[in-house]
Amino acid sequence: MSENQALLRIEGQDIPLSIVQGTEGEKAIMISGLRQKTGYVTLDPSFMNTAACFSKITYVNGEKGVLRYRGIPVEELVKIGSFVQTAYLLVHGDLPDEEQKRSFSALLNQHSLIHEDMRHFFDSFPRGAHPMHILSTMINALAAFYPNVDLLSLAEDIEISSARLISMIRTMAAMAYKKSIGEPIVYPRRDLSYCANFLNMMFDSPVAPYEIHPETVRILNTLLILHADHEQNCSTTAVRTLGSAQVNLYATISAGISALSGPLHGGANQAVVEMFRTIRKVGSVKTFLEQVKDKSNPQRLMGFGHRVYKTFDPRAKLIKQECHNYLSRMHINDPLLDIALEVEEAALNDEYFVSRNLYPNVDFYSGIVYRAIGIPENMFTVMFALARLPGWIAHWREMIGTDTKIVRPRQIYTGHSLRHDERNWR
Ligand code: ACO
Repeated sequence: MSENQALLRIEGQDIPLSIVQGTEGEKAIMISGLRQKTGYVTLDPSFMNTAACFSKITYVNGEKGVLRYRGIPVEELVKIGSFVQTAYLLVHGDLPDEEQKRSFSALLNQHSLIHEDMRHFFDSFPRGAHPMHILSTMINALAAFYPNVDLLSLAEDIEISSARLISMIRTMAAMAYKKSIGEPIVYPRRDLSYCANFLNMMFDSPVAPYEIHPETVRILNTLLILHADHEQNCSTTAVRTLGSAQVNLYATISAGISALSGPLHGGANQAVVEMFRTIRKVGSVKTFLEQVKDKSNPQRLMGFGHRVYKTFDPRAKLIKQECHNYLSRMHINDPLLDIALEVEEAALNDEYFVSRNLYPNVDFYSGIVYRAIGIPENMFTVMFALARLPGWIAHWREMIGTDTKIVRPRQIYTGHSLRHDERNWR
């Protein structure tokens, strides 16, 4: 047996299985042919120990707290400070040169307006509808307006399709917000950068022009960069799974948005702020943590814990720092930040959280920053979707570019054995 093989002994049979190794040394045992050779499948509920694909996009080391996009540490990308360049990096594989930057920005500008007929869709949602539901519906509807959605056309048209999505999701998000508060829609402007444009569409009004503060543009870029991809998480897996059935790109992204809306995934950022408010009402961090640790109580400490990170989430570290800087530079005093700091300190010194390697994740401080920017709580997860879009597109693109078969896991059936209905129906 070679070094690149593992041996599985099963029912007296020795089955050699290939070992593959990633760029950063992580190893995996290939089991694709196992059922054919032995009749056995592997069982791994919730994919706790299963790599579903090879990918060149994002590297996460959960033990060391490392996150890199296309090899570049997120800490460096935050210093560059441009979400648009990060989006380009994820989708295309390298940071853009000057010419590529110019033409990508021009494409984003060109596709920033949504089809005028789509504007009326916003009128049909009930007041109070969650913007994530509106967003996933609107993105799905794009396939009807831009019908070149079959795989071949999209593959040829990928520059335009990705620019359209990245640009339009921002317009749609701002429109959904304006509709929800009953204010006139603000159109995108070509003279503004991606984040400045978004802020202007969100907050400008005919009676109170919005002043775009460079610090706000900077921190928004940082937040979007830090959320732009995170390898095979729940929503990205949804995107890759749908994509494997050759579902059109828009429907695929819409499914990603739906997956992200769950409170255990992207919906956590909204839940975290709600939780801080509850703790403020309860008046005691200690009492709240006792409730969270009580197994008969389904309540979790939102914004804590991660499937992959068993140490500090590097995104949480950066956002915490940025959050402090932004609030002090903008002279904002948010009592929820004090609660967050108190909760973090108490949890990091509590045996329950320490022994389970539970640390703050990306969502723990992001909501405080969004609040400071003026973004309402029900838009927090929309902000996450907007940021994650380049990552989803990159994964979809990578997947259709490889020889991927339709995703179709096996199961272990545990229901009734064959039985018949003995009743006489006649
Ligand atoms: N609060 C209290 N206990 C927790 C928490 C938490 N936030 N997270 C995990 N635990 C406990 C579990 O109860 C379990 O305890 P046990 O071993 O005594 O049964 C143990 O830690 C392991 O937890 P699992 O649920 O098995 O861990 P998993 O990897 O499946 O879950 C998840 C990860 C979903 C993120 C979880 O930590 C959680 O629910 N966190 C709160 C929600 C949240 O912040 N989600 C955002 C994640 S980041 C993102 O998606 C962008």
